[in-house]
Amino acid sequence: MIHGTNRAVALLMAGMTLCCSLTAALAAPPKKSKKPPVKAAAGKSSAAMLAAGAKVYEANGCMACHAIGGKGGPTGPDLSNVGGDSKHTAKWLETQIVNPKANKPDSTMPSYETIKGKDLSNLVAYLGSLKKPMAKATK
Ligand code: HEC
Repeated sequence: MIHGTNRAVALLMAGMTLCCSLTAALAAPPKKSKKPPVKAAAGKSSAAMLAAGAKVYEANGCMACHAIGGKGGPTGPDLSNVGGDSKHTAKWLETQIVNPKANKPDSTMPSYETIKGKDLSNLVAYLGSLKKPMAKATK
């Protein structure tokens, strides 16, 4: 069966070429190895974290009570500048989400114990990033 053999040889060759070029690619030293991996500086949050945090905010319906940039409900305080208040540390924001009564005993905000881990830190990063330049202070 010459046909079959040819096909088998062709397949084998193709496989070898693929395999060898892969090996070569793997063996080649990474060219950009000098650059250190991009690390989020302490206190700063990557765009990916903020985007993920915004998703957590949406997924949990926070906008039912809170407005950001004019969008959302009026029950809770406007969060457009929630990150601009120095009282709102990451820890405080985290508490406000997971157990609001720990921040304010008569809080009417529901506690979101289901938000945890990365979701929680991303949400906190997102909230912390919300800083609306203050309207010119009282004249
Ligand atoms: C049922 C309405 C309601 C929902 C839903 C809600 N909140 Fe609140 N939130 C409030 C109220 C009311 C306050 C005012 C302070 C208090 O009562 O705790 C508040 C306060 C806050 C504060 C502090 C704001 C400040 O300036 O002091 C943050 C931050 C916050 N909420 C985040 C969230 C996030 C994030 C979610 C979604 C996971 C959420 N809230 C969902 C009602 C709500």
